Amino acid sequence: MVSVSNMRFMSTLTTPSFSNRTSLLFPKARFYPLSQPRINMAHIRCSYSGAGVVDDINSSTIDVVADIKPERIVVLGGNGFVGSAICKAAVSKGIEVISVNRSGRPSYSDPWTDQVTWIPGDVFYVNWDEVLGGVTAVVSTLGGFGSDDQMLRINGEANVVAVNAAKDFGVPKYILISVHDYNLPSFLLSSGYFTGKRKAESEVLSKYPRSGIVLRPAFIYGKRKVDGFEIPLDLIGEPLERLLRATENVTSPLKSLPGSDLLLAPPVSVDDLALAVVNAVVDDDMFGLFTIEQIKKAAAGVKV
Ligand SMILES: NC(=O)c1ccc[n+]([C@@H]2O[C@H](COP(=O)([O-])OP(=O)(O)OC[C@H]3O[C@@H](n4cnc5c(N)ncnc54)[C@H](OP(=O)(O)O)[C@@H]3O)[C@@H](O)[C@H]2O)c1
Repeated sequence: MVSVSNMRFMSTLTTPSFSNRTSLLFPKARFYPLSQPRINMAHIRCSYSGAGVVDDINSSTIDVVADIKPERIVVLGGNGFVGSAICKAAVSKGIEVISVNRSGRPSYSDPWTDQVTWIPGDVFYVNWDEVLGGVTAVVSTLGGFGSDDQMLRINGEANVVAVNAAKDFGVPKYILISVHDYNLPSFLLSSGYFTGKRKAESEVLSKYPRSGIVLRPAFIYGKRKVDGFEIPLDLIGEPLERLLRATENVTSPLKSLPGSDLLLAPPVSVDDLALAVVNAVVDDDMFGLFTIEQIKKAAAGVKV
């Protein structure tokens, strides 16, 4: 019999591992303490049963000191399409989640929304002191369209500001939702959208060379909530993803054509993207730039 006090078990249980940090959700068991402090002592009472051995419930307790790291993340844009999927996936894995976005809590209610701390704020003016204390990772979904200047500001500058705030506060990890380049010709990549994204990426990877994560999805599908309505992007995205996978051998020679990825880049489900982010939060061996296929692999690691 093994009893573990003050902990919450995640995942299918294999032999509990007390090695330093578990690398990936979730073939291994992970422990999430229900309260601080960060270094926790696990009291494990063990007894052994086998042929001729009587189970002894009063066997002695062994103290195991393990570095069990509770995760607390800030999602910038947690009420958006991608941000809300990330918040939902993260809380379901026992991660503490704070969202920062201008309009605060989403207008709809769902049980997971009560498990997120909603801080209304603009990333350019927010008081980071109130946001970043004890945070183990910042996840940025900031981005959008508009005039060239607006796109540069929200895709680029907003993230530069947030990366530097996180770095100054000693937040150990920054995860950026960026975008695939669709192998577009360079003159199209010079728009404020892509220029901003690449600026944000280089800020993340230069300030966080060993723990910065940049995910580059193409079209993201799922159910997008807009003004009380749900747009079922999955009705297009899911079959398209299957079709592109099935025809990969035929279409791959076309991929060298400029802009062909506008049609051929596989879409990513918003739930898979969220799982890849959760994986990035907990796995310290995961860092750098992630392509569409690598995002899907990272998501599959969590699904297992
Ligand atoms: N959707 C796709 O198919 C797709 C594909 C590839 C890449 N991406 C990238 O994925 C990211 C997320 O996309 P999305 O579709 O989820 O966008 P979205 O639904 O528009 O969400 C954007 C979020 O950012 C928040 N926000 C905007 N300006 C802010 C500011 N100044 N301060 C604080 N929060 C701010 C918004 O909330 P408030 O308005 O309340 O502030 C919202 O929560 C973007 O970077 C996008 O470029 C999306």
